[in-house]
Amino acid sequence: TISQLLSSTNAPVNTDTTTTVSGWIKSIRKQKNVSFAVVTDGSSDQGLQAVLLKNKGQDEEDSVLKKLTNGAAVRLTGKLVKSPGSGQSHELVVDEKQPDSIVVLGECDPETYPIQKKALTNEYLRDNAHLRARTSQIAAMLRLRDNLTHRIGSWFSSQGFVAANTPILTGNDAEGAGEAFRLALMDLAHPAAESPSPTPSEEFFSHPAFLTVSHQLHLEALATALSRVYTLSPCFRAEPSATRRHLAEFWMLEAEWAFLEQGNDVRGVCRFVEAMLRNVAGSLVTNDSDMECLWRGNPNSGNLESLQKTFGQKDWWTCMTYTEAVKELEGAGVKFEYAPKWGKALQSEHERWLAETLVKGPVFVTDYPVDLKPFYMRLNDDGKTVACFDLLVPHIGELVGGSVREERFDILRENMSKAGLVEGGAYQWYEDLRKYGGAPHAGFGMGFERLIGWVGGIENIRECVPMPRWSGRLLL
Ligand code: 4AD
Ligand code: MG
Repeated sequence: TISQLLSSTNAPVNTDTTTTVSGWIKSIRKQKNVSFAVVTDGSSDQGLQAVLLKNKGQDEEDSVLKKLTNGAAVRLTGKLVKSPGSGQSHELVVDEKQPDSIVVLGECDPETYPIQKKALTNEYLRDNAHLRARTSQIAAMLRLRDNLTHRIGSWFSSQGFVAANTPILTGNDAEGAGEAFRLALMDLAHPAAESPSPTPSEEFFSHPAFLTVSHQLHLEALATALSRVYTLSPCFRAEPSATRRHLAEFWMLEAEWAFLEQGNDVRGVCRFVEAMLRNVAGSLVTNDSDMECLWRGNPNSGNLESLQKTFGQKDWWTCMTYTEAVKELEGAGVKFEYAPKWGKALQSEHERWLAETLVKGPVFVTDYPVDLKPFYMRLNDDGKTVACFDLLVPHIGELVGGSVREERFDILRENMSKAGLVEGGAYQWYEDLRKYGGAPHAGFGMGFERLIGWVGGIENIRECVPMPRWSGRLLL
């Protein structure tokens, strides 16, 4: 790739050998005797400058240079030399006279090509999702996404976690975490004339089937055998709200681990999450060309320096209880749309104020009221709160949510019964996990696109996934 080529050319360049690169023309500037093209193959934010020497003996009309337009796929062969200009270390000198030095593999009509040089809006690019990875921003995001995926894998592996593939199709809508998509079987050979929604008898599964909203419960099953498991998998929520931090299809990093050490409370779980984040993102925010490209392109989402400060910080990130957070909000002197009150859910305006104004960085909020949280979170000794946390970060709001899980069978069963999950027996298997060798355990879930948005300073998480799906939108 061009990236490999450029990183291996710190050694003195041997100008006697020829080099061939393939890629797409990112920009081209034509002069009388020479043209300058920047060619990219997507391997890094940096393209390769090609200096194209015109074959003067040739008729203007026959010149292949005419076909070198933005977006065209080309193969160029020439000599890689140290660049006399600033802005790039090397350039490829290509002589049109040499046979096959310039091969146009795929032409690109500059009149109709949707990806023009001028600034394109996010909305316009979403409409052209099949082509938008050709912009520097989306390409940089995709490489960041890949980079984070690798780093997450090696960190969890170093901590003794097993990567597990939990199901996408589930028999229940898990934890009532938003609205689930339900599956319907369609006979595409004989489409129903009147109604697109099939009757239950047409269903393929004996029970209703859903696209999973979270992998947590299945991971818990595996954690009671392998001790430490995680997954980075797609989740689906029929979120009616089209906010800049909600997608209908998103990826979640989820982990569960058994045998919490004695006295290892929810703060210990927060420290674990923080150690993971510092490990996977810490070095990226200080030294990565894609990161610079992303932050440059999103001037409204804070600044990279403050993120670098967060990751350079010696002390642990701030931790406060929900009760303390509500006190801070009540005393903030800010007119929130929803007045903060103990027992009420924190709204996103509250979350953002805590992270952006009060703490000016990430903040773990722990021990929420039991009534606000799902049945599986461990009840604290006060009988009013649960051993859970949300990690709130500037610009994004909630990035991670997790808890110590309720391992005491009686309390769990009571919670499930209250939530209406006992009747029908759909969660019998989950009760078994506690009945048979249940062990103290904890876990969390982090929205992967939200992580990318935070680390890359990306305005809207629709730009944190190649082909976004959200309320009312599924284009290709
Ligand atoms: O807070 P949530 O709903 O928690 C769970 O589903 C737990 N079962 C996770 C666990 O403990 N294993 O979702 C977890 C995270 C959120 O903090 C958020 O970052 C992300 O998933 N998330 C979304 N990201 C994008 N689009 C959506 N619609 C999201 N809904 C949640
Ligand atoms: Mg949550």
